[in-house]
Amino acid sequence: MTNCNDCQQHRDSQRILPDWKRVFVNRQEFLKLLSLTLGGLISAVAVIPGFAFLVNYLFTHSGDKWIALGPKDKFKEGETVDVVFDDPAAQPWDGCSARRSVWLRRDENDKFTAFAITCTHLGCPVKWEAGPQLFMCPCHGGVYYNNGDVAGGPPPRPLRRYPIRIKDDVIEISVGQFLPET
Ligand code: FES
Repeated sequence: MTNCNDCQQHRDSQRILPDWKRVFVNRQEFLKLLSLTLGGLISAVAVIPGFAFLVNYLFTHSGDKWIALGPKDKFKEGETVDVVFDDPAAQPWDGCSARRSVWLRRDENDKFTAFAITCTHLGCPVKWEAGPQLFMCPCHGGVYYNNGDVAGGPPPRPLRRYPIRIKDDVIEISVGQFLPET
């Protein structure tokens, strides 16, 4: 038959939460409280950013937004130029990172292509070289043709392209998503 002392020890070992009356006089209860507190804090640090991102996304994401890049006649046929625009999803604390760029190419007449500036290898910004008509990536030597296809180096895919339209003779792109690869 178990004595009363054994019963108390058994109950103590089964308890998850500490015995609040004994927590400041009993080292075991104090350590239990400490480990629960630290575990809770670590869990909160891990979960809160993801939760904040989700809430921010749900309340600020309002579908694709079209961004005007300028009147179409501003761009010459056969030329590729860097156009800077303000990120529609920018937050007040984003600072200069809210300014984004796109490589805009006027292929012919009303045919435009808007390339993302980031290399499809590891995301470095690519640079347009008008002489050889190539996009060059300075990081690992990636090279793309003027239509965005890979010409050489490590990039696994062509440059990504934004949806583009002409509205009232103004070029607009949507930065919510990229066009599927062709
Ligand atoms: S990031 Fe462009 S080639 Fe590596």
